[in-house]
Amino acid sequence: MKEFIHNFFVTIYKKFTKEGFDEVMKRFAKWRLASLLAFAALILSACSGHPYLSTLQPAGEVAQKQYDLMVFTTWIMFGVMAVVGIIFVIVLVKFRRKDDKIPKQVEGSHTLEIIWTVIPILLVLVFAIPTVIQLFDLADVKAMDKKNEEGKTDALVVNVRANLYWWEFEYPNEGILTSQDLVVPTDEKVYFNLIASDVKHSFWIPAVGGKMDTNTENTNRMWLKFDSEKADDVNNIFYGKCAELCGPSHALMDFKVKAIPRAEFDQWVGNMQAVKEPVQATEPLAQQGQEIFNQSCIGCHAVTPANTTPEAARLAPNLTTFGEREKVAGILDHTEENVKKWLADPETIKPGNKMSGTYGELTPEQLDALTAYLMGLKVQGE
Ligand code: CUA
Repeated sequence: MKEFIHNFFVTIYKKFTKEGFDEVMKRFAKWRLASLLAFAALILSACSGHPYLSTLQPAGEVAQKQYDLMVFTTWIMFGVMAVVGIIFVIVLVKFRRKDDKIPKQVEGSHTLEIIWTVIPILLVLVFAIPTVIQLFDLADVKAMDKKNEEGKTDALVVNVRANLYWWEFEYPNEGILTSQDLVVPTDEKVYFNLIASDVKHSFWIPAVGGKMDTNTENTNRMWLKFDSEKADDVNNIFYGKCAELCGPSHALMDFKVKAIPRAEFDQWVGNMQAVKEPVQATEPLAQQGQEIFNQSCIGCHAVTPANTTPEAARLAPNLTTFGEREKVAGILDHTEENVKKWLADPETIKPGNKMSGTYGELTPEQLDALTAYLMGLKVQGE
């Protein structure tokens, strides 16, 4: 108690001296750093507004395995740190200098050398064995090579093609394609062929897996599985990202994944296959919009889902299901307002995108008409 009172008064005294002032400022600087870090953490955590936009909340077999492996290795790492830390403290306390005597000098110890060689080797084995097993499991895409009598795979295959700043998803067995919203059945393996049209991008659905490059010169392959219970938690929508710096709008190169039960998926495929010709708009405003579309947009954008057009001719996102998309341009809420904003000035919303400046100026009336037409492009029905 006496000591506490003494220290208390010494502290007060110090505060009024130059030294004391400096010390307070130093502490303050430390706090400033701490508050800056806290602020950064707050900002960064705000980035994950969606519950399953994080690799730390796995929502599929691949992501779960990767997560488990990470947790496993982290625990071992903590164990090693704890052992080293404890030995460090014991040595500091036990062997600190007590007198001027120089202790017995030891040079070379077979026992010690064997111990500190064998332990790391064992640790590396403990890390390596599960990692290698999983590596082979996660890279197993043999099902993509197994063709049936029709020359198709029994496995569900999606060809992903990444473009400056949009995504195309082609279903070769089903003969359909879509863009921006990937549609998959839950609880089964979905196999992906990954390519890019222009520069290197990377396909990543943080909660489910991936982060594999899409290259222009070769095809990468992988599989993913979408968990139905986790999908229910998020109204069947997962978020996908481009994970390779590809240009000014790299951070805006998002896509969505609609992970739905198999029966619903089959229905969607059926609905898509049924669209053979561009659907004719019925409302007068939308009809007017369709006319504008046929004059200005159809050169690049298709409104039928058939994958008969060669890849090189698929210059822009397929719009067959535009009215059912989760987002406008992959990033804006799916509202008429935002469609108009996008049509009026795509460059501001997604700098460097290929749509910018490729069509004439639209009057507000034309914007209304075109938006009405685009929002009516649906295959699911209400
Ligand atoms: Cu595409 Cu980053």
